Amino acid sequence: MCGIIGYIGSKQAIPVLLDGLKKLEYRGYDSSGVGIVCSSTHKLDLRKMHGKIHNLEKLIKDKPVGQSSVGISHTRWATHGAPNKVNAHPHFDCSKKILVVHNGIIENYEDLKRTLIQKGHKFVSETDTEVISHLIEQNYNGDIFEAVKKGIRHLRGAFALGVICSDDPEKLVAARVGSPLIVGIGNGENFIASDVPAIIDKTKKIIYLKDGEIATITRQEVLVHTFAGKQVKPKVNIVKFDVDAVKKQGYAHFMLKEIHEQPEVLAKIIKERIHGNRISLDGLKLTEKQLKAFKNIYIVACGTAYHAGLVGKYVIEKLASIPVSVDAASEFRYRDPIIDNKTLIIAISQSGETADTLAAVREARSKGAKIISICNVVGSSLSRDSDGILYTHAGPEIGVASTKAYIAQIAMLYLLALKLSSHTDKISERARLEIIKELKTIPSLYKDILKTKGLISKIAKKNSHFGCFLFLGRNINYPSALEGALKLKEISYIPAEGYAAGEMKHGPIALIDEYRAVVCIAVQSPTYEKMISNIQEIRARKGKIIAIATQGDQTIKKHSNHVVYVPRTLDLLTPLLVALPLQLFAYYVSVGLGCDVDQPRNLAKSVTVE
Ligand code: AGP
Repeated sequence: MCGIIGYIGSKQAIPVLLDGLKKLEYRGYDSSGVGIVCSSTHKLDLRKMHGKIHNLEKLIKDKPVGQSSVGISHTRWATHGAPNKVNAHPHFDCSKKILVVHNGIIENYEDLKRTLIQKGHKFVSETDTEVISHLIEQNYNGDIFEAVKKGIRHLRGAFALGVICSDDPEKLVAARVGSPLIVGIGNGENFIASDVPAIIDKTKKIIYLKDGEIATITRQEVLVHTFAGKQVKPKVNIVKFDVDAVKKQGYAHFMLKEIHEQPEVLAKIIKERIHGNRISLDGLKLTEKQLKAFKNIYIVACGTAYHAGLVGKYVIEKLASIPVSVDAASEFRYRDPIIDNKTLIIAISQSGETADTLAAVREARSKGAKIISICNVVGSSLSRDSDGILYTHAGPEIGVASTKAYIAQIAMLYLLALKLSSHTDKISERARLEIIKELKTIPSLYKDILKTKGLISKIAKKNSHFGCFLFLGRNINYPSALEGALKLKEISYIPAEGYAAGEMKHGPIALIDEYRAVVCIAVQSPTYEKMISNIQEIRARKGKIIAIATQGDQTIKKHSNHVVYVPRTLDLLTPLLVALPLQLFAYYVSVGLGCDVDQPRNLAKSVTVE
């Protein structure tokens, strides 16, 4: 998704803006641009370029802009109009006194554009964003704050905006509805950004702008008003992680670093949330009475978070005996779900900004449901739309392919299920204690699995020529199969499908021949024998088998071309373990194929538009 950086201070703006844009690259983009207020003339100037930020850097080097300490910049993930120089942000108004950068989608931009053209405005791009520049111009009477306030009233849809104006050269204006935007507070300098990692090396003092707020930012002051013009006192948060969290620290890719962070991420969750044998879910904000009253649960999420939700279904139903249904958020919001005040919604989102998940939550809330969210980004939109928020505190996840956030989401679901189980007699206290005890061992088991990365790399190399992969799992590892397939396809671009192994004979077995590779999750479980049968059916048709199995299992070797072992644990907890070899397999296949592991084509880290 698009990224925004703005700066006002005493330094040269261009290096600050470009540095910030580079830290936003992981969000996904296809063009970029900067706009500045020239210090000497106060005129606005801009440079924009298609492709990667180094193309923009080269343009600025070849064709420098004037000295400036005030500017805005943008990485664009094309929604309206091709990814080219003309459509890249920032966008001028007719007078060239106003420049705008925007993240989001303006749903009524065509009507607005038509009206503005009738009023004499001239457009140069195909974007929805340019409408905002001309709308602000249409409402401009010498006060850029007032013009922005009046202009955005006409907008429908989601937007995070950065605005500069040559008549008011010592000011940035920012506004947001539905797309994230933060204000960074420095010493004699201030910033706007789409998210914290972009400016964490500049300041840890952050204001998370809320929907419907406009910030007017000078070097010394940040004023925040509602769209209605009421001034509000913004909360200044101190970010808990530091700049190292957004650096690769010697790893070849952020994804590899984040895979290796998983033992610490899980250990931290356990330390923060399990005290002795007591589960502490600070942020839940629902009373025991409220928790007991829920008769059904919907889990809503997208992508990897959706797969975590599927694991959550198995766990919550097993431990707490409450019916759980799991929906892709994009489907949930349109299927008119049956919801009442006895319904609990669990929304899962790493970024807390996924448009479909936010919309699903709003739909559920409008029907009287209570919302608990599992989220990794503090202050995100989702955290503000929820009754209870369980932060995973996994640290910034920069790789587009979600890894540590996934296991953190699953871990949080185990803890929530254990909490809910205390209201039923579905499992004994002894069983609860055994799960808690075993959960505490997983971080060290992770370290054992990470030691097998050399083997996994070899298996990846030997199998990356296959044109298509099938991932099979049963019961609680059916979601693991879906997640393994998503990991592979999104960073290697190889078609990969996750399937319930029991469904093989209902269709997918037609795919099997000597040109197919099948990843089978065959850890010790009540359905192990069934999985062995599936593997034999595949082998009988010359399919290649890559098995994920439990340490000590010799049987599996007879049936598989390759075996990756994970330590033994409770069947219920195996999704936490099998995730790692599947992540590493996808990673090494992608690297072997020379794909852009951290910023795979067409993808964005946070899908903030529908
Ligand atoms: C997963 O690797 C992908 N990056 C994607 O499917 C992601 O999980 C999905 O877009 C949901 O993102 P969220 O967790 O930030 O809501």
